[in-house]
Amino acid sequence: MSKPSSSSLLLLLLSATLVATICRADPDPVQDFCVAAAPGGHYNSSYSTTYPGFPCKPSSLVVSDDFFFAAHASGASTDNSNGAAVTPGNVEAFPGLNTLGLSINRVDLAPGGVNPLHTHPRSAELVHVEAGEMLVGFVSTEGRFYSKVVRAGESFVIPRGMMHFQYNVGAGAARAMTVFNSQLPGVVLAAQSLFGAEPEIPDAVLAKSFQVDADTIKLLKSKFRKG
Ligand code: GLV
Ligand code: MN
Repeated sequence: MSKPSSSSLLLLLLSATLVATICRADPDPVQDFCVAAAPGGHYNSSYSTTYPGFPCKPSSLVVSDDFFFAAHASGASTDNSNGAAVTPGNVEAFPGLNTLGLSINRVDLAPGGVNPLHTHPRSAELVHVEAGEMLVGFVSTEGRFYSKVVRAGESFVIPRGMMHFQYNVGAGAARAMTVFNSQLPGVVLAAQSLFGAEPEIPDAVLAKSFQVDADTIKLLKSKFRKG
């Protein structure tokens, strides 16, 4: 058998590195912590993300409160058209998460409320229900719908990038904590991104894509476009 050439060995090494990289979520930290720094000590959206996160606050200025987050002690109002509220706990809200590769949201649903179809391009999601009962579901790349009614104390996992939702099927309010293996999972809201995009996606493209007429698309756009 002939010996592999150095270029094929290099190619093999590069492929192995690529596979290892795309199978991971956020990169591993390179120090104990790297609290996201910003003028005033809080995350500032004018900061751009660098690899593997936001710039670190000098450790001499880091305090216990940088590792503490209280915004999930109460939920936001669900008095809206979806009957739902998601309170994010990602690095933008909680600077201590920077470079740690995890984050957490609180999801509140009124009876009949739905956290509408969306995906997270950079993370899987673990849905842990704390109160009530929710139908939680996602669709795989094969077009298969997986779902389960999840009750208090139970969990359901959404693989990375899959379209998913939570729907309150109980009689009272429902609450879940959702945990991510990314400090900033990103969210693509299905209806919002298709019918509320700015500038708008041409009606003809949407009409053909959904096999409906342009009036139906206009109706949908009227619900999701601002102004
Ligand atoms: C729920 O799906 C969430 O993204 O928090
Ligand atoms: Mn989600």
